[in-house]
Amino acid sequence: LTVNTTTNSESKPKAASGGLAGIIAGESAVCKTTQTALIYRGYEIADLVAHATFEEVMYLLLKGNKPSTSELADFRMRLAESARLPDGSFEIATRIAKAPSFNFMDALRTMVAFIGHFDPQSQDNSTEAELNKSIRLLSQIPLLIGQIQAARENREPVRYDANLTHAGNLLYQITGKKPNADESKLLDSSLILYAEHDFNASTFASRVIAGTLSDMHSAVTGAIAALKGPLHGGANEAALDMIQEIGTVDNVDTFLEKAFADKRKIMGFGHRVYKNGDHRAELIRRQGRAYAERYKPSALPLFDVGELTDKRMREQKNIFPNLDWYSALAYYALDIPIELFTPVFVASRVSGWCAHIMEQHANNKLIRPLSRYTGPDDRLWMES
Ligand SMILES: CC(C)(COP(=O)(O)OP(=O)(O)OC[C@H]1O[C@@H](n2cnc3c(N)ncnc32)[C@H](O)[C@@H]1OP(=O)(O)O)[C@@H](O)C(=O)NCCC(=O)NCCS
Repeated sequence: LTVNTTTNSESKPKAASGGLAGIIAGESAVCKTTQTALIYRGYEIADLVAHATFEEVMYLLLKGNKPSTSELADFRMRLAESARLPDGSFEIATRIAKAPSFNFMDALRTMVAFIGHFDPQSQDNSTEAELNKSIRLLSQIPLLIGQIQAARENREPVRYDANLTHAGNLLYQITGKKPNADESKLLDSSLILYAEHDFNASTFASRVIAGTLSDMHSAVTGAIAALKGPLHGGANEAALDMIQEIGTVDNVDTFLEKAFADKRKIMGFGHRVYKNGDHRAELIRRQGRAYAERYKPSALPLFDVGELTDKRMREQKNIFPNLDWYSALAYYALDIPIELFTPVFVASRVSGWCAHIMEQHANNKLIRPLSRYTGPDDRLWMES
């Protein structure tokens, strides 16, 4: 078999390296990343975690500016008003929750596709309609997560509580118990950290879908499918699996030695963009540990495992933990079941996806790159 290495084009385009690493694939005013900073609409993430709430960050991402007090109150009211799901959604969630091949991310993907059928503006790609749809998605995704989890636990889902924050409501949906302010605050910080990250795989997937002039629910459904994978959002679940597999600080060195020998990846480490460390990891580590010290001392031995593994990975491989490594421990301390770690990521990142979908539609160009052809040429069907 001869292999042809010409491109699928008459012109001579530049070749991208594997996985489009290092390629600027478009323009965006939503978020900027450097080796040391992650900036949402001009505000650095550490500043946002210290001073903003997730509600304010959602507004910032969607509208481009920090909300005034009245704009924030209006935004919160609209989130509360949107906290309703179509009739029959709990029946469908229950059916899926009992399916033999159940997977939480698959279930959430299906449920988001389902609610799209009932959104009054589902086929309207105007900015105004997309802002409305963004608010509905942000409000409804925690309820969908709550319905799926309630069905898994054979209980009724709980209702949205306007006295809780967005993060507080998400925790309430997951556990069925009203969280205290510190629990809500820890999750709020995590949601801020996970909200946006320029052209990451799921956001890029959402923009590719939006770029065909498909609708927002379709683009978000596709983004959830992309986020599921363990090289992307699924890494927070894989990270806790690995921390639990290591088990104790005494086992860290033996575990890593074997993992390196087997060329096994340590989930929750490494990053396509940050090669000298992901500063979001330290922000959530500090808050997660402080929370565990106060409320969940039984989680501290796993924090010790996480921190020693981090130290050894830096020393031996010069590879740093990413946000998922310590988010996994924070979620463990919050008693969030492991299969909900990536769905919680969805509840946050949907704010970034919606901002990007709107930006894509506002100045649309079909995203359609070329490939370098590596298959055979000149074959004849009757001669093969
Ligand atoms: C995130 C990730 C996909 C980035 O991948 P990338 O930019 O394509 O980088 P590569 O996978 O090519 O890694 C470069 C080198 O570092 C090593 N490396 C990267 N991440 C590693 C990890 N988590 N554990 C062990 N080695 C790792 C690779 O084996 C490779 O080594 P080599 O050059 O000797 O082959 C990768 O670091 C990874 O798979 N991490 C684990 C999953 C994860 O945490 N994902 C969440 C990302 S936020």
